[in-house]
Amino acid sequence: MNNNIRSTVYEQIGEAGFERLIDAFYRRVASDPVLRPMYPEEDLSGAARRLRLFLIQFFGGPPTYADERGHPRLRMRHGPFRIDQVARDVWMTHMRAALDEAAIPEPARSTLLDYFERTATHMINTYRP
Ligand code: HEM
Repeated sequence: MNNNIRSTVYEQIGEAGFERLIDAFYRRVASDPVLRPMYPEEDLSGAARRLRLFLIQFFGGPPTYADERGHPRLRMRHGPFRIDQVARDVWMTHMRAALDEAAIPEPARSTLLDYFERTATHMINTYRP
């Protein structure tokens, strides 16, 4: 995915679009029996903020994520959590529903969905026989 397509997402949906998306996503995570227990903090607002700032930066907005967290090193940061195919698929189901609820318009929706599908697979670090 080149930088041009990426920055088009931020231009199209802005901070407000990412806020709607991440709010809708974390509301689902909060009541999910597979995902909720993985989150170390009682309050999910910190995790929601980190994902929102990361996506804003990745898709062409201001680099506040890097200022606060440094290099993303996403796979390494997910190392402490046991992410298998089931967890990955649940994560994607909630993200797809969140894209709908937040009414993210095309072409931003397809660009985001494609990125999420690939990145979520890349986060798998636990395999069952
Ligand atoms: C595949 C299923 C996934 C699971 C089960 C999962 C789970 C988690 C958990 C438990 C955390 C720690 C929460 C916290 O920061 O307090 C986390 C952090 C994070 N995740 Fe995921 N995640 C998944 C996929 C993804 C994907 C696809 C992305 C990017 C598109 C992503 C981006 C992030 C970011 C940016 C953070 C915060 C990193 C930091 O600055 O510490 N995650 N994730």
